[in-house]
Amino acid sequence: MFMRFSTFVIALSASILHVSANDKFNTIYSLRRGNNVTQETPLTCDEVEGSVPDCSECYSCDDPVIAGQKQINVLRLELNDANCKSEEICCVSQNLMNFRGKKPDNIECGKHVPEGNPRAIRSTLRSVLRGEYPWRAWIYRTYESKPLCAATFVNQPRRTLVTAASCVDGFRAHQLQVLFDSDPDSAVDVEHLDIHENYDKVTHENDIAVLGVASVPADAQRACLPVHPAPHGTACVAVASNGFFINQAIPLQDNCAEDNKTLHSSLMCASNYYKDYTPELGAGLYCMDEEPDNILYNLVGVYLYSALEGVAAINTNITHHISWINARANEHMQLQ
Ligand SMILES: *[C@@H]1O[C@H](CO)[C@@H](O)[C@H](O)[C@H]1NC(C)=O
Ligand SMILES: *[C@@H]1O[C@H](CO)[C@@H](O)[C@H](O)[C@H]1NC(C)=O
Ligand SMILES: *[C@@H]1O[C@H](CO)[C@@H](O)[C@H](O)[C@H]1NC(C)=O
Repeated sequence: MFMRFSTFVIALSASILHVSANDKFNTIYSLRRGNNVTQETPLTCDEVEGSVPDCSECYSCDDPVIAGQKQINVLRLELNDANCKSEEICCVSQNLMNFRGKKPDNIECGKHVPEGNPRAIRSTLRSVLRGEYPWRAWIYRTYESKPLCAATFVNQPRRTLVTAASCVDGFRAHQLQVLFDSDPDSAVDVEHLDIHENYDKVTHENDIAVLGVASVPADAQRACLPVHPAPHGTACVAVASNGFFINQAIPLQDNCAEDNKTLHSSLMCASNYYKDYTPELGAGLYCMDEEPDNILYNLVGVYLYSALEGVAAINTNITHHISWINARANEHMQLQ
């Protein structure tokens, strides 16, 4: 049996990083809250009851992935914890699994180029190559050589990029330029800039902006926009300002609550290794969506700041803003 969350834990321990865990780190990865193992409890309960005939993927039963399956294919198992409290989990054979969100709009997006473009050799194990994620870009103040922040290209016909409002707040479109990863030598003018009308500087609610640029290099490719919220356990990457990739994942969002304050729905968190690098402001959280024959990357978040001693990367929740992004992009098209 193949369980999405245990796979994720294995992926973590196989990481090339050597970092020590701390309490916050353990908490953010925990799958359930508050189930203390007490000494009196026999450990015999800690197991799965029931079986599945072949290789299956298992999720909590309220997961959107399960809702998207033919219910006749869903097998229900009991997952017991050490205190004999059980939770129902839902499994679907990989052969019968409906893969998520293959819609016409998502064709030709989100395909990474692992060998780089032009093809290149990594200078260190963690270096991201030029053109590897061909939707990466940076925003500059015109005539300045240091970027204000990162951005992600998401819409080809509308030439739209997404970033954080906190990066571009206070600027006008004509004061900004964009450099694409696929053509780092030619700056492109920004023609349109929209900052979310409900952006709150203090709480970071609705901390999102879209830009329309004058042209897009031929080798640039857009990241996909998510169709559903990413299920917890989804593996993601982000990139730090030194060009190193950062492995992140989507934890249960409750685990990121600080002082019992759950995140506003326009925000989300990703888990980051303790003491690892943090992403650049405005950088995309690119989460993998498995299709039958390839992996597509969705822009699930835009990095804002870190919390919980650095193990929680707080992002703008892109799934929450899809219709806002599309509406702004369509307006840019009409103004062109
Ligand atoms: C777990 O243990 C802690 C500390 O002993 C206690 O405060 C908490 O209420 C316990 N949680 C549960 C669900 O029993
Ligand atoms: C969080 O909530 C729990 C239970 O609702 C409470 O016992 C605890 O004191 C709260 N912590 C903070 C920091 O408010
Ligand atoms: C993000 O927003 C969507 C849509 O509002 C919501 O369903 C989801 O729970 C939010 N959080 C995450 C982590 O996707």
